[in-house]
Amino acid sequence: EKGEHRHFMAKEIHDQPEVLTYALQSYTTPERDRIGGFVEELDFEGVNRIILVACGTAFYACHVARYWFEQMARIPVEIDVASEFRYREPPIDGGDMAIFVSQSGETADTFAALEYCKGRAGKIVAVVNATESSIARASDVVLPIRAGVEIGVASTKAFTCQLMVLLALAIRAGRARGALMPEREARLVSALFELPRLMAEAIATEDQIAETAKWLANARDILFLGRGLMYPLALEGALKLKEISYIHAEGYASGELKHGPIALIDETVPVIVFAPRDALFEKLVSNMQEVMARGGRVLLVTDAEGAIIAQEGTAEVLVMPTLDPVIAPIVYAAPAQLIAYHTAVMKGTDVDQPRNLAKSVTVE
Ligand code: M6R
Repeated sequence: EKGEHRHFMAKEIHDQPEVLTYALQSYTTPERDRIGGFVEELDFEGVNRIILVACGTAFYACHVARYWFEQMARIPVEIDVASEFRYREPPIDGGDMAIFVSQSGETADTFAALEYCKGRAGKIVAVVNATESSIARASDVVLPIRAGVEIGVASTKAFTCQLMVLLALAIRAGRARGALMPEREARLVSALFELPRLMAEAIATEDQIAETAKWLANARDILFLGRGLMYPLALEGALKLKEISYIHAEGYASGELKHGPIALIDETVPVIVFAPRDALFEKLVSNMQEVMARGGRVLLVTDAEGAIIAQEGTAEVLVMPTLDPVIAPIVYAAPAQLIAYHTAVMKGTDVDQPRNLAKSVTVE
């Protein structure tokens, strides 16, 4: 049921603080001091590579997770979209843990990629919302994201719950590999428990976003920029906007701007910059200044201090709560989703049932 909301997508965006709370309980100890629950028994003995495969938004969750696994567990990671992976015939062996991420658990390409890994990879793990699904049934280990039913074609709460589960898994892997000390794990777990509140605060910027959508809705092209963990979020922001507002959008790693896309910039192209104050903040800000120097209109998404440092010359700033940068992709997903949602509402498109799209892509 949509309740007070106009669309399922709006409801599902607003569901996030609550579903993240449920999901967290399944991946932490009752004492809330460590990662536990569904990933506690997972064995990383002999794992020397993680392979993450999915489609669409679920793939962008994998893309974020690559940074987490590399940083926290120091394990080599490979990611690919399922439709490419399945036909590449990549070499896979017993040292590989292959992880398939899917909201529906029925995506044809993701399932075929899983089948390819069967009998080759050491372990097959499914990160799914639908636990009674083909992908779940074919896996050795099933990690439910517990997002509840998602009806809107644009994936929202499934994305943030996928991220939460993948982060828990990366932390668990970090412990297993001796790469993550208990104090660091405890700090990360307390950051995770901040998520519901931070998410609610991020969602509370909705009225401002609805106003912002008025200028975004007139654009023909929109660029999303990020670095590090926020690069895949830029890709996700662009996908979300395209699929429901039909505005052409692209996500870029901001360091790539001067290798081509900066040629697109003029005053008609809004540029949305996801800039939590992480180790790459200053580099991102200098890329943003290059955009503004060429007339680009920037919507800067950052926290209060980031706004003080970098707002000069931007068209608008959206202030997010201050947070541990590790969880920024989860919290900053909320403005990414709301920007797409309100821009689509302004344009009058069918938000929950965008043209040409199906909720579950069960054919190749
Ligand atoms: O059910 P799945 O998670 O396997 O679906 C994967 C994609 O089809 C899906 O995420 C799609 O990209 C969404 N419509 C994006 O909002």
